[in-house]
Amino acid sequence: MTPDDMMFKPDAMKGQRILVTGGGTGLGKVMAEGLLMLGAEVYICGRRGGVLEEAAKDLMDAHGGKVVPVACDIRVPEAIHEMVDKCWADGGALTGLINNAAGNFISRTEDLSPRGFDAITNIVFRGSFFVSQEVGKRWIAEKKKGSVVSILTTWIWHGGPFTVPSAMSKAGLNVMTQSLAVEWAPKGIRFNAIAPGPFPTEGAWARLNPGNRRGLGDTADESSPSNPMGRVGRMPELANLAVYLLHPLSEYVNGQTIAIDGGAWLAGGGGFSALRDWTDEQWEQARSQIRGANEKDRAQRTV
Ligand code: HXC
Ligand code: NAP
Repeated sequence: MTPDDMMFKPDAMKGQRILVTGGGTGLGKVMAEGLLMLGAEVYICGRRGGVLEEAAKDLMDAHGGKVVPVACDIRVPEAIHEMVDKCWADGGALTGLINNAAGNFISRTEDLSPRGFDAITNIVFRGSFFVSQEVGKRWIAEKKKGSVVSILTTWIWHGGPFTVPSAMSKAGLNVMTQSLAVEWAPKGIRFNAIAPGPFPTEGAWARLNPGNRRGLGDTADESSPSNPMGRVGRMPELANLAVYLLHPLSEYVNGQTIAIDGGAWLAGGGGFSALRDWTDEQWEQARSQIRGANEKDRAQRTV
């Protein structure tokens, strides 16, 4: 990204110290980049140390600043404790957390083994909770403010057939967001979430769109015919929203989950979404057919 991609002034996040789980790849890396470009110190975690180190180097080579890779498997509470210790020891309290790490794959639900179910839920549902709790406990003990943003999906509103463990886990995190927004608000800790629509990444597309069979959106030209805007999401759009939610000036925003999907999930409701593709001619034809039906009814009216 370039400075023109960010809508905030260049030092908007100076003094902020943010942990981005899964920050070595995909959306996590993009949000880490946005935060870094605006002056935040960023910690990124994931299971693959090499990937994290490369990402940190890439980002610092491009923008300077400080990105610290910390290898951690968030399925393991003790490993989370150690990771958060490292962040604190490195320069004091974190000011924010992005729960972004996830695992997912499409599968018929009847084909899921218990280990397959756990592979997803242990990362998303349990892992994100334990990271939030670990960071939150320290903020509470030190009487520090903090802001947590969790990356969900729009499936929390309309369900996620063929991705049931992910949909269940993300819905759980949505309720965590709403619950802790209230429970910890008096302590100065707020919780919000982002529900992205399709933002093509290597990690997600390999597991959810193998062979681009589902028409989720094209990685090459951004097109997504099923989306009301006709395209997939652009990375800077997500990075700006994450910065906004983490910024101290959005402090009164608490307990909210914001969709960033071009209106896609709303388009599934109402049943008439496909009409947005109608031509003027089709509308004219429909209007005259409807008028014809109305006139027929009128002619039969006796009162
Ligand atoms: C059925 C599967 C499977 C598949 C794995 N399993 N893939 N079952 N269909 N396609 C089963 C295995 O058979 C095994 O069960 C169990 O899951 C664990 O598999 P492992 O490969 O040992 O798991 P692990 O190494 O822990 O890896 C976790 C993972 C992997 C989730 C399976 O995909 C991963 O590491 N993902 C991280 C990145 C990622 O998923 N990114 C996408 C996020 S996108 P058995 O019983 O056979 O031993 C997203 C939403 C996007 O979240 C929304 C887009 C609109
Ligand atoms: P991605 O690149 O595969 O990101 C997933 C990240 O999570 C990876 O960096 C992975 O690193 C990390 N991770 C997985 N398991 C972990 C564990 N046990 N401990 C620590 N880190 C772990 O996919 P993405 O598309 O950017 O997805 C990022 C987030 O956005 C996810 O929450 C996803 O559900 C959400 N999302 C994505 C889209 C989309 O269209 N891309 C849409 C809606 C929501 P390691 O493998 O090295 O551990």
